[in-house]
Amino acid sequence: MYYPQYRPRRMRKTDNLRAMIRETHLHPHIFVYPLFVIHGEDVRNPVKSMPGVFQLSINHLVEEAKDVASLGIRNVLLFGIPDVKDEAASGAYDPEGVVQMAIRAIKENVPQLTVIGDVCLCEYMSHGHCGIVREDGCVDNDLSVELLAKTALSYAEAGVDVVAPSDMMDGRITAIRSALDHEGHQDVPIFSYSTKYASSFYGPFREAAESPPQFGDRKSYQMDPANTDEGLREAIMDIEEGADMVMVKPALPYLDLIYRIKSETRFPLAAYNVSGEYAMIKAAAANGWIDEKAAVMEALLSIKRAGADMIITYHAKDAARWLAEPMRMAAAGRHPEGR
Ligand code: PBG
Repeated sequence: MYYPQYRPRRMRKTDNLRAMIRETHLHPHIFVYPLFVIHGEDVRNPVKSMPGVFQLSINHLVEEAKDVASLGIRNVLLFGIPDVKDEAASGAYDPEGVVQMAIRAIKENVPQLTVIGDVCLCEYMSHGHCGIVREDGCVDNDLSVELLAKTALSYAEAGVDVVAPSDMMDGRITAIRSALDHEGHQDVPIFSYSTKYASSFYGPFREAAESPPQFGDRKSYQMDPANTDEGLREAIMDIEEGADMVMVKPALPYLDLIYRIKSETRFPLAAYNVSGEYAMIKAAAANGWIDEKAAVMEALLSIKRAGADMIITYHAKDAARWLAEPMRMAAAGRHPEGR
């Protein structure tokens, strides 16, 4: 393949030729849209650091879910903001908890959506950590795992389609799988946040979910950003414990992990394009420093190209709309780029 016999630019000449040899494609089916559900009536609180994202009470949540489905997105991921937090995270596994109610409301009103429940304790703990804090200030792994399994089970009883543990305790996939199987929920898949880093890019989410740790940080359970072998090991462990899908989080600063885990496990893989990644593009676009649509589509394509099967992203609604544009133009007899 030498110049001048091979001239790569020949196949870049027109949009039709470029489309013909394009290797990676996005589709709304691979998107998961995160939703934040809050107690109360008629609440729609904008999250300041995440323009376009709201804390929604059940009535607004159902409307939003309908909107999401109408755009061709098939999956939502639920996070809950309870009215009371305590040191046992009792809101997480309360059958009348905010997520349990949201699961029932969405399954009843928008049954075509796959409802994924994020299983974690931080939003429900008064101290904001993802597990039970002992007197010495340490997060107790095995006690926390019991509560996580209880939470996953209560989501399943409420009718959730998939559970997604995001806490990073050791052994939680085994515990959740056995709790679900024991109660007849052997068909509920587990999407494990297997490879989740202690990242600074979660900042805006913690405003949305009202879940910042009140002391210390999450470095004793979330991973060190410097490690890649360990990220692969975490994914393999979770697969062996029974995870149906593994995950890399955040996405863009960790594309190497997406590539590596996909190529070494050949297992279904999700990537979480997190709140900070979203906020950066939104802020730059609001200042006129970046073309939002082009930047978002390039970022999502990169995540897919690296090897992700599924992308959890706050851009999902916009991206689904943008993906539908060429089809609408073609239907109207107009070519997107004129040739
Ligand atoms: C809960 C959880 C977090 C995110 C997803 N689940 C926050 C955290 O671990 O601190 C972050 C998502 C995002 O930033 O968009 N443990």
